Amino acid sequence: MSDHHVTTTLAEGVLTLRMTRLDKKNALTQAMYTAMAETIEAAALDTEVRVLLITGDASCFCAGNDLMDFMNSAPTPGLSPVERFMRALAGFEKPAVAAVCGVAVGIGVTMLLHCDLVYCGEKTKLNMPFVGLGICPEFASSYILPRLMGHVRAAELLMLGEPFTAEIALRYGLVNALLPNDEVEAKALEKAQQLAGLAPKAMKVTKMLLKKWSASATLEALAFEASHFIPMLKQPEAIESITAFMQKRKPDYRKLA
Ligand code: COA
Repeated sequence: MSDHHVTTTLAEGVLTLRMTRLDKKNALTQAMYTAMAETIEAAALDTEVRVLLITGDASCFCAGNDLMDFMNSAPTPGLSPVERFMRALAGFEKPAVAAVCGVAVGIGVTMLLHCDLVYCGEKTKLNMPFVGLGICPEFASSYILPRLMGHVRAAELLMLGEPFTAEIALRYGLVNALLPNDEVEAKALEKAQQLAGLAPKAMKVTKMLLKKWSASATLEALAFEASHFIPMLKQPEAIESITAFMQKRKPDYRKLA
């Protein structure tokens, strides 16, 4: 299936969801979120799908939300396409694996926090530049990251918002293993197939148990962050930051209150 820069293939119980908007570094549009949400929702109900594998290609995973889309059709309270996608992923009861190369920015990192296994190219650059865009963390990342790596590391990544290396992602527990770019997808597929061959009910219960004790807090964090994130997108700081990116210049906050 191919739709809106998202393709899917099902083989041996593994549904591969591939982002294919490579000329824009897989920046995600409303249409892509909807296609990804529909894919995951259908996968949840399809007994032939045992495992979800999310990837881009050996050069690029995802540069985050399309910044033009942020300006033109920002998410609104309620089930926006991005929220539908992230809720589908966060609530997916079967294993989700990610193969990450090149760049992973913004929601390109946030979505990894809702996957079960993550394989990463050695040269991948990751970034959560929310503050630099005049916005805040999203989809429970402000809850999950400090639990995963401790406050000071999470604060370093979220407050400074600088690109960080794959080695740091490994050290901080964001990814399982680093590989040369051209081996990442094969390794992720191998592990996904391994998961797909195991007892599906035992797998589901195991995933449920792993997430059970943080599930309600994750959903609460997701909604609370959205109550900040959505209005912030319309504030002068975000408008200046996103306009600056589009105009390929540094943002200038001097005139903002
Ligand atoms: N939204 C819209 N367009 C984006 C984009 C995004 N998030 N990320 C990249 N693009 C576009 C660029 O504008 C460029 O378009 P152009 O060829 O028409 O000029 C194209 O994708 C290639 O990007 P480029 O910046 O030239 O690639 P790079 O390898 O030098 O840098 C990134 C890659 C991801 C580091 C850089 O593009 C970037 O910082 N993007 C913004 C990431 C971001 O802030 N995401 C939102 C997080 S909430």
